[in-house]
Amino acid sequence: MEPFEAYEKGEWGVNQKTKEGFSLLHLAVLEDNPLLIEALLKEGAKDQEDLWGITPSNLSKLLNRSNALIKPQERTILIYRNSDEKIHKILLSEFEARLKITYSDSLIFDSIKTIHKVAKKCARKMKKEPLRQMNAWTLALHKNELDKPREHLFYIKWINRYLGYGVFAAEDIPGLTYIGEYTGIVKRRNNRKNRFNDYVFSYDLCGKSTRWCIDAKEKGNFTRFLNHSDHPNLTSRWIIKDGITHIILFSNQRIPKGRQLTYCYGPWYWRSRSSPAPL
Ligand SMILES: C[S@@+](CC[C@H](N)C(=O)[O-])C[C@H]1O[C@@H](n2cnc3c(N)ncnc32)[C@H](O)[C@@H]1O
Repeated sequence: MEPFEAYEKGEWGVNQKTKEGFSLLHLAVLEDNPLLIEALLKEGAKDQEDLWGITPSNLSKLLNRSNALIKPQERTILIYRNSDEKIHKILLSEFEARLKITYSDSLIFDSIKTIHKVAKKCARKMKKEPLRQMNAWTLALHKNELDKPREHLFYIKWINRYLGYGVFAAEDIPGLTYIGEYTGIVKRRNNRKNRFNDYVFSYDLCGKSTRWCIDAKEKGNFTRFLNHSDHPNLTSRWIIKDGITHIILFSNQRIPKGRQLTYCYGPWYWRSRSSPAPL
């Protein structure tokens, strides 16, 4: 008998899990059924982890679903207007419309199968003591900021036709400050196609390359506007959180207000492009 059928008949608890560790809430997220999710929450369904540490609320984010497990907020972002040389606060929805991108604070996967493949690899890596320790340190360092919006720290500014947009410090940023996560759609690597996509970041697991990359061309956050420098003031680092690897960026030095935020794209990026401008 299906879990939902059993639940209707009173033979399945609201927080009971399947053999695979899925709760009814997980199944409702997979079915993309917001009404069912709301009903289950009213009946006391909890946001519990599956076997790979993925909760229904995280699953909703990772599969880009909108439902009652995710609280939509109308957030703002700072942009610099060259016309009046001033910083303006605008709604993210306005920013999205202007730049023709979908702003996403989360990695987006095509299926639960890929999420579990990644989570399985992460769990294997976390069995190695040095990697587990390194992860614990990074998590401890940024634990208060990881889930909080960072849009007050920077503004987006159009630089010129050659460089396009860039990200600049809106206030003095101390060293080791968490700046944000590189978000986008997790896809299979396709090196031939990626040569023409400026917004692809390799999705490494604990520093080792994988068959996936993060593509922020259409969906992503402000990190897709960060330019490259050989002497960057941001460092990128992997972190395993809620069962999944994330690529985060933090300041590696004090960054004074008004300075451009940059990170190093690595040598591969520039192999198929003309040399970067010194920033
Ligand atoms: C991830 S995007 C960065 C945001 C980009 N400036 C924009 O407006 O969308 C990467 C692209 O920005 C440009 N870029 C970034 N850093 C650069 C640099 N140091 N010199 C020249 N172009 C750069 C290149 O066109 C590169 O392919």
